[in-house]
Amino acid sequence: MTTDSPSRHVTARGRIIGAMVLLLAVAFAGSIVLSAQILNARTDAMVDDRLTHAATSFRTFATSPSGSSQFTADALLTRFLQDTVPTRAETAFSLLDGAPHRRMAGDPPTRLDRDPAFLALVTGHAQPVHGRYATSAGQVAYAVIPVQVVGDPASGALVSVQFRREVAAPLFSSLGIFALAGVLAVIGAGIASWLIAGRVLAPLRQVRETAETISETDLKGRIEVKGHDDVAALATTFNRMLDRLETAFATQQQFVDDAGHELRTPITVVRGHLEMMGDDPAERAETIALVTDELDRMARIVNDLLLLAKAQQPDFVVPQDVELMDLLVDALSKASMLGPHHWAVDGLAEGRITADGQRLTQALMQLAANAAAHTPADGTIAFGSRLVPGSMHDGGRLLLWVRDTGAGIAEADQDGIFSRFRRGAGVHQTAGAGLGLAIVKSIAEAHGGTVSVASTPGAGATFTLDLPAALLPDDELAAAGQGDGSPWKGTE
Ligand SMILES: Nc1ncnc2c1ncn2[C@@H]1O[C@H](COP(=O)(O)OP(=O)(O)OP(=O)(O)O)[C@@H](O)[C@H]1O
Ligand SMILES: [Mg+2]
Repeated sequence: MTTDSPSRHVTARGRIIGAMVLLLAVAFAGSIVLSAQILNARTDAMVDDRLTHAATSFRTFATSPSGSSQFTADALLTRFLQDTVPTRAETAFSLLDGAPHRRMAGDPPTRLDRDPAFLALVTGHAQPVHGRYATSAGQVAYAVIPVQVVGDPASGALVSVQFRREVAAPLFSSLGIFALAGVLAVIGAGIASWLIAGRVLAPLRQVRETAETISETDLKGRIEVKGHDDVAALATTFNRMLDRLETAFATQQQFVDDAGHELRTPITVVRGHLEMMGDDPAERAETIALVTDELDRMARIVNDLLLLAKAQQPDFVVPQDVELMDLLVDALSKASMLGPHHWAVDGLAEGRITADGQRLTQALMQLAANAAAHTPADGTIAFGSRLVPGSMHDGGRLLLWVRDTGAGIAEADQDGIFSRFRRGAGVHQTAGAGLGLAIVKSIAEAHGGTVSVASTPGAGATFTLDLPAALLPDDELAAAGQGDGSPWKGTE
């Protein structure tokens, strides 16, 4: 966990967090832009409100006692401008006969009463007007209220001005604080998620590092499982997968070792005979017969090995409709060629099931060959089949067996004989390779079933295949497919 992360791992973490921070930043920038637009609209409304308010207060002043006591436009404007205290965002000045006259106290951002272009804009109006004007201090909104006092020939005007930038400043200052806080929050979130992601990803990194140390030849490494979370579950699953891989590789290695070892013996025998062969024709004929015999045995071993290797493949068994009676009777008639024994039938199941008939016959023949090899010539070898009806959930089973009255198998050997290259005690080393029962087991397992032996040493042995088998109804035979619901399945 303390090891340095390789760069591509950091990149993955960086990419996730980069994307997250970018998303946050975009969302935040969006909200700032939206807020700014809202504040701009509010500023405009406030500026208009203030102008209206300024005009209203001038009108109120003009009709008030102190206003109505002024008898010239000059006096009225002067008095109003003297009495009014402006905010920083506003100013006002008066025009008398088209020229700047008085201005409100205070220090406005720019002196518009000295701006000829602005003056040209606001003079000569007989009606109130308002508008916007760009100055060096930003945009202003203005209103011109013409003033005419009865009995005074002079024409005056009050020019009220609102500085937009000053009105907006307090609104936007809080937006600035908001933006700064947002930037800090995004940076903080980025750093925090970088650290958290590092901690969360650490166990995953360990899984990856362990996986990297594991090579085809060394599958011993396992991940330390901590806690009970998803990552621990991942580690457990990964470890289990390694267990299976290790077993698979070990089995494969063993298979190759065994095969090599088994084939070395006949090769040595053949070489020995050929080297020792003399010139005598009778001796030569004898050697050739021996060598041919040994080569036949090798060919059989190779064929059996190929068959066992094929058992790992999904098309090892091809399910078809199998007539149970034909299966057993045909196998028995073939098997009876194996020896002069008394060949019999113990039981005969009737009906059809879905299975691979050829592979089942192959299994029965292997069992029959073993029985014939271990049973005296006057002994009995019997075939039998029986259907065990199933329940709703369990489609039923087919039992197929080969019974003999031969030597039997010692209790201690009974488990081992189903493994490859395992022969029972007392069997001549060159008799068989010990592959027959392994083939039978593969065929049973490829059908989703098992094979077992029951034997009393000295009194014979019975090998039984126990296969899942749903009986196919006669009238539905044509429709019965080989798809779902078939009890058959391939080997792993
Ligand atoms: N019917 C039987 N009676 C007594 N022993 C048996 C019987 N069937 C199998 N065995 C024992 O189980 C061992 C394994 O049988 P398996 O068929 O796997 O190998 P094999 O017959 O020795 O060689 P292969 O079948 O490859 O020619 C045999 O060597 C034998 O000792
Ligand atoms: Mg055999």
